[in-house]
Amino acid sequence: MDDRIDNKRRRFLTNVTAAAWAVGGTVAAFPFIRSMTPSERAKAAGAPVVIDISRLEPGQMVKEEWRGKPVWVIRRTDEMLQKLAGLGENLADPDSERSDQPVYAKNVHRSRQPEVLVLIGVCTHLGCSPTTNFAIGPASGLGDDWPGGFFCPCHGSKFDLSGRVYKNLPAPTNLVVPPYRFLNATLILVGEDDGGTA
Ligand code: FES
Repeated sequence: MDDRIDNKRRRFLTNVTAAAWAVGGTVAAFPFIRSMTPSERAKAAGAPVVIDISRLEPGQMVKEEWRGKPVWVIRRTDEMLQKLAGLGENLADPDSERSDQPVYAKNVHRSRQPEVLVLIGVCTHLGCSPTTNFAIGPASGLGDDWPGGFFCPCHGSKFDLSGRVYKNLPAPTNLVVPPYRFLNATLILVGEDDGGTA
């Protein structure tokens, strides 16, 4: 009889301890999650978002959302970067004179660091979301001389790996580069730069 009571009591105490641990764990984890992920309300209001690129391999892309729009971060390979230099005459706005990007992204790479490209993933024609096509040449299905880039399926606009639009296609300007800055080597804050919050 005494043994049964002891066993019941032991089970009760074990459950209480487990529940307390779970609550404590949640509280301890919350500040970290909150610092990385703004609330839905803050997001809707346009709060900057942090994007972690620590696991982004060369040739890969990660997607986030800022102000209801897709944000893409691509870690370009050396081969991708080399392709950019020779494309000028095929592009509608090769020097990004008419396109929207911060002053630090007004270069052939359209970025702060050559290998890391940050773009708003919305076509500048009528707002569709282009697809990525990083394959080169015939394997891309976009022609033997396709150097890799983005393709908008709605009306056929094509963009290079800096988001620059090709000539004689519906999109009038290059894909938009949002304001951003590096918090450290692997964290990017999108929506805010040295000039403050966008
Ligand atoms: S919306 Fe992209 S080409 Fe028309």
